[in-house]
Amino acid sequence: MICSVKPSSIVITSSSDPILRKKHSNPLQISSFSPSLPIAKPQRCPISLQKPLHVSSIGNFGSLKPQEEHNLITCKAYEAERSEIEAASSPSEAAKKVKIGIYFATWWALNVVFNIYNKKVLNAYPYPWLTSTLSLACGSLMMLISWATRIAEAPKTDLEFWKTLFPVAVAHTIGHVAATVSMSKVAVSFTHIIKSGEPAFSVLVSRFLLGETFPVPVYLSLVPIIGGCALAAVTELNFNMTGFMGAMISNVAFVFRNIFSKRGMKGKSVSGMNYYACLSMLSLLILTPFAFAVEGPQMWAAGWQTALSQIGPQFIWWVAAQSVFYHLYNQVSYMSLDEISPLTFSIGNTMKRISVIVSSIIIFHTPVQPVNALGAAIAILGTFLYSQHTDG
Ligand code: 3PG
Repeated sequence: MICSVKPSSIVITSSSDPILRKKHSNPLQISSFSPSLPIAKPQRCPISLQKPLHVSSIGNFGSLKPQEEHNLITCKAYEAERSEIEAASSPSEAAKKVKIGIYFATWWALNVVFNIYNKKVLNAYPYPWLTSTLSLACGSLMMLISWATRIAEAPKTDLEFWKTLFPVAVAHTIGHVAATVSMSKVAVSFTHIIKSGEPAFSVLVSRFLLGETFPVPVYLSLVPIIGGCALAAVTELNFNMTGFMGAMISNVAFVFRNIFSKRGMKGKSVSGMNYYACLSMLSLLILTPFAFAVEGPQMWAAGWQTALSQIGPQFIWWVAAQSVFYHLYNQVSYMSLDEISPLTFSIGNTMKRISVIVSSIIIFHTPVQPVNALGAAIAILGTFLYSQHTDG
């Protein structure tokens, strides 16, 4: 007997119940169909099918008597015709692709806007420790308001969650402030060219500190990444050591942030959006005392007056924009991580850097020599090659 079953879900019961009965959204338990699984008791085996199935070889299915309940049944499920499957799954697949496309486009656009306002602010007001703190404070405030007004549901966290988040927040804080210091000293495009070398740091840290090994092509991809970044650095017209080191430190810090994040997010029910919100709040607490120690209110106040007098009141809007857009692009990137694999994420991040490099060169009229652009292109190509051989 062959039954063709095409509901979204079905229930298989023992002989006392109907053999196949439609039911909604019970999880599929493939093991229930194991040929070696004895039916010990009249018991429901809930299954839910995403795809249409044929169920075959079920023997006495439908006519089991109580004394036969210990008999084995053989139940094989196999995929129905491919055309039927595609017809059934394509709308949700297409919807998912559209959703991810929207996430990516939003993430890159928000990031480009952040980078432009961030650089405009830093050009007029070179206090990266304060501007980094303000971006975290703004994001934290936005999320607290969202939770209080129930625009977003507040996460349920415990002490263990915050303990696990702490190393992630330390790495996030260092990576964030180091990148901002870098951008206060060099062109945005230069910071992002160096930051496109992050995969190289990921491999080196994973190999030498965590003892992980990678396929040979991954190691080979480091050659263009490191070589391209080096070429871009030595031919950068406005090279500055602090700017260069800031981007390098940011790379190392974000590698550790990603390693700790992966461990911290495993098995947790906190969404990407709320995970990033908690990360912002903890980073804010960590960064604030350091910002006071390194720069401090006196420098901030004097610089603020100068910036206001040079730029006018719109300077305040620039500060607000860099803070809001910093939170938004990070929030969307963490929301994307909920939907996509680390590999897709890392490709998306590389594409994002290309958007930022190109748009900032155009907007800020950054002088670029051909050999400098070649270095950037080689580094980015290396990052793509890297993406093809790792899970991100
Ligand atoms: C920051 O300020 O945190 C950096 O600009 C982050 O850069 P990234 O998110 O592009 O790595």
